[in-house]
Order: sequence, then C-alpha cells, then structure tokens
Amino acid sequence: NNNNKRISIGFSQSISEDDSWRKSMDNTIKIEASLHPEIDLTIYNANSSTKKQIEDIEKMIDNKLDVIIVAPYGSDSIVPVIEKANKKGIPVIIVDRKVNTSNYTSFLGADNVEVGHIAGKYIVSMSKAHATILEIKATTDISPGVERSLGFKQIIDQYPNIKKISITAPNLASINNNFSKVLDSMPKIDYVFAFNDIIALQAWEVAKRKGREKNIKFIGIDGLNDPNGGIQAVKDGKLTATILYPTGGSEAIKLAIKLVNKEIVSKNNILNTILIDSLNADIMSNQFDKVTQQQSNIETQQNVIKEQEKKYLTLYNLIKLLSFL
Ligand code: FRU
Repeated sequence: NNNNKRISIGFSQSISEDDSWRKSMDNTIKIEASLHPEIDLTIYNANSSTKKQIEDIEKMIDNKLDVIIVAPYGSDSIVPVIEKANKKGIPVIIVDRKVNTSNYTSFLGADNVEVGHIAGKYIVSMSKAHATILEIKATTDISPGVERSLGFKQIIDQYPNIKKISITAPNLASINNNFSKVLDSMPKIDYVFAFNDIIALQAWEVAKRKGREKNIKFIGIDGLNDPNGGIQAVKDGKLTATILYPTGGSEAIKLAIKLVNKEIVSKNNILNTILIDSLNADIMSNQFDKVTQQQSNIETQQNVIKEQEKKYLTLYNLIKLLSFL
C-alpha cells in the first residue's frame, strides 16, 4: 500500500538554535513533519562549521534518504557534496542562503534584494528622501547579506539627500564597539538599518545607553513572533519596523513531499515578505498566533487518532482471538 510508504527526510541546519531564527526554522520543520505521520525526519546541526555541514550531508547520502533539505552556511565549499547528492538522484532542497551551483532540485526562500528594496522605500517615504542612514551588516559574505545590501543601495542611491554609511558587526560585542564609535563620531543619525532584528535591538540598547535611542529609527529584518522577536520589538516601540523574513520550514517539508510524489516543482520558490511596523504589528502577531494554535490543535487530534487506533487494534486482536476459540 502506497499510503504506508515511509518518507525519510534529512535536514542540515547550519547554525545552532541559540539563534532564534534557526530555532524557529527547526520548529516549523518539526511541526510540519509531525503533521505527516509517514515522514521520518532527521535534523543535523552544523554549528556554523562548513566542514561539519559537509559531513552531515555525506551521512544523509550514505543513508540513502529520500530528500535532503539544506540551509547552507557558506555558498562555496558545500557545492561538491550538493552536486554529489544530486548526481545520486537524491532530491536536494536549498533554503535561505544560496549555493554557487545550479545542480540541486529546488531553492526556497524570500527574495533578499526585495527585502533591501522594502527597507529602502520605507526610509525614502518616511524621511521624504532626506536622511542619514547607518547600515549594519552581519557579515560581508553571506548571500542574504550581499543581496539585502544591494537591494537597499539600488533604492537609496536614487536620492541625493540620503546619505548612507555602512559598518559590519559579525557579533554582539562588535556592535557594542563599532556602533558606539559611530554614535560618538556622528551627532546625527536618523535611521539604523540592521541586517537582522537581533543586531537592530542590540544597536538600540547601545543607543539607549547614550540617550540617543529616541532620535534614531531602528529597522531590522526577520520579524519573528516570539517574546524576544522583531514583532514584539515593534510593539514595544524599540524597532520602527522589521521586514518579515520567513524561515520556510513548513514549505520545505511540503516541497519535499511533492518531490517524493514525483510532482513537478519550481526550481525557485520565493516566499513572501512584508514590512511590519506599528500599523500592522498586532494583526501580524495575531495571525501567527492563530496558525500556531491551529497547528497544535491538529497535533492534538492526531495523537487522539493514534490512541484510538491502538485501542481498536487491541479490540480487533481480542475479537480475532475469541473467534478462534
Ligand atoms: C539567522 C540569520 C537571520 C537572517 C538569516 C540569513 O541565522 O542570520 O537573522 O535573516 O540568517 O541567512
């Protein structure tokens, strides 16, 4: 019976769950997988090591999994192992960051150039095209960062009265140091555009210590719906806006199922993004809460069904046994 066929899916996560966006991605993957009882899911975490990520993917290839989902750490060294899986006929889904090969099955993620455009247009319209902006990048070389910066520049460069300075802050300590220095040397900064909400919030903290937080509008990216996430920070008035950067966890599992069923899927699957500010922060978090609630209802129902099945099986075996007597 085809319906009982097991589906083995491996997910290679790049960064540890200390990072809340990664944790949320892992969670949505787990939840979506749990809604499909035929799925056997294995999650590997590379803890920011490309070497470990390559080993993890090698393992999935050796174990002949049905589908491999990869959230790449870097875009280059990982290419040979992705191509190896592809050559062996294992469908590979790439999420979030890009890889420098086209030898995979599908890509899934939001358009980061578009994320940069949204941030740029928001600042242009709020400032009537007169502003000094500080862009804080996470690291210089990851594909979402490069694309966000490019999209932002494409908009900002059209306006001569918008001035932009960029710094890079690969970790929280460096935000404290580098942003502190920038604040001291620049008496007027109108906007901070940070490449994720964690950086934006850390920058807000630094500005607050110097009594500057009210004169600067902070814009982040990710828009997670948790107590420390971007949406709450918008509600609290710390961030002026955040741009939703969906993790794609549940979509990745849905895509994996389609691939196993030999359905035709797009090579490029673009997730929607949206700006969240004080006007829609409540609506957004309510919507997300509802989805979470519905998912947990489905999970509860499935557990009830499993229990019922067990009971019926016991009953059935009992009847069978009795009919032998
Ligand atoms: C989390 C993160 C997010 C960002 C994404 C880009 O690890 O840095 O904040 O949007 O990765 O790859």
